[in-house]
Amino acid sequence: MAKAKSAYVCNECGADYSKWMGQCTACNAWNSLSEVRLSAAKGSARGARYEGYAGGAVQNRVQSLADVNVAETPRFSSGTQELDRVLGGGLVPGSAILIGGEPGAGKSTLLLQTMCHLASVMPALYITGEESLQQVALRARRLGLPVDKLQMLSETSVEQICTIAEQHTPKVMVIDSIQVMHMADVQSAPGSVSQVRESAAYLTCFAKQTNTVLFLVGHVTKDGTLAGPKVLEHMIDCSLQLEGSGDSRFRTLRSHKNRFGAVNELGVFAMMENGLKEVKNPSAIFLSRTEESSPGSVVMVVWEGTRPILVEIQALVDQSHMNNPRRVAVGLEQNRLAMLLAVLHRHGGLMTGDQDVFVNVVGGVKVLETGADLALLLAVVSSFRDMPLAQDLMVFGEVGLSGEIRPVPNGQERIREAAKHGFRRAIVPKGNVPKEAIPGMEVVAVSRLSDALDAV
Ligand code: TYD
Ligand code: MG
Repeated sequence: MAKAKSAYVCNECGADYSKWMGQCTACNAWNSLSEVRLSAAKGSARGARYEGYAGGAVQNRVQSLADVNVAETPRFSSGTQELDRVLGGGLVPGSAILIGGEPGAGKSTLLLQTMCHLASVMPALYITGEESLQQVALRARRLGLPVDKLQMLSETSVEQICTIAEQHTPKVMVIDSIQVMHMADVQSAPGSVSQVRESAAYLTCFAKQTNTVLFLVGHVTKDGTLAGPKVLEHMIDCSLQLEGSGDSRFRTLRSHKNRFGAVNELGVFAMMENGLKEVKNPSAIFLSRTEESSPGSVVMVVWEGTRPILVEIQALVDQSHMNNPRRVAVGLEQNRLAMLLAVLHRHGGLMTGDQDVFVNVVGGVKVLETGADLALLLAVVSSFRDMPLAQDLMVFGEVGLSGEIRPVPNGQERIREAAKHGFRRAIVPKGNVPKEAIPGMEVVAVSRLSDALDAV
């Protein structure tokens, strides 16, 4: 028997090496290499490949880019609007989609719902390696899903799965989850980097050759190391992340990589007693405010992918009893908060050096864009002075280090969205003032932080 070879793969970026090293030279991560036992039988450096269909090699002819028939890849809807949106407009046959998220995020629920509905229009196969068939069936019944068309399989051997799938020729297939799948040729435990990598490569190859849409479920551990989907990212076409804080019922689906559409699209779901429900109008839920206005609360419009969403930013500024006053940002960037407080001191004349500052985005949303700067600062000022801002006021804008207010993309659409939800006054950067007045909306243009402070 030939000696089994091994390689070393970086858990962070997926680069492989023939020798172990302390630091990955590709991504500079420390101590991230783990050993991968390659199969001796196949002898190829990248392990076994799905070789069921001989057609693959013949089609591999050189041709001009213009001659490639693009009409051959029509998209079809997944039946869930929010999922379609994140995928860039629907499912592409032959694509591999990774859905990552912490255990309990709702990945299985989302896919089970989607598959039950898809099964009524096309052959669909759901492979469960984690839960028993009874568990899945009970859940589907409880959620009131149409259960008669979906094909189920409880299996963890990748070779077996592909053999069975060849007979059933599904158009959509779910692997729940990639961490429990294993291949006979790979000599390590399921869930190890080598098993996950080889299994995913084999399944992706199968999907490409049979034109099947493949959903892979991948768990992200808190530290993101062992079998983290990072090692998979270069093989798959789309990588989606289902996120949600444990205590909030809202889940956001975000795409981190998409070969067929834009990234940073956001889909919003709510986890209810009867499954995951789409949230068609996220502004309405993130903005459920009490009647009277309270100090430290400001509404802003964030731009997520292709749409505006209204969110409320809250701040609490309080006398600190510590030597190092605390700066805590939930849903916003910590470093940005520290920077903005310095700008506020220098250009707004407001000293928060001896105060604890907490800021929070209501509803568990993460705001990563700089358009939140002005809203954050006004919330801090409002809390510091204990003066509530008007209920019908909306704010957005980036704040620069010299106290200038910079415009942000899609200003006009943001103002329109706010007007639609009953806001009557907007404080916006000068560059974002719409050319035509928006009915019912008073737009206040500001170019310096001090202007904005005067305006409120
Ligand atoms: P699940 O889809 O099993 O998560 P994952 O596959 O990502 O690990 O979802 C599990 C969580 O969702 C569980 O903690 C309970 C909750 N849940 C509901 O609140 N309502 C429901 O209808 C369902 C099916 C699950
Ligand atoms: Mg699950």
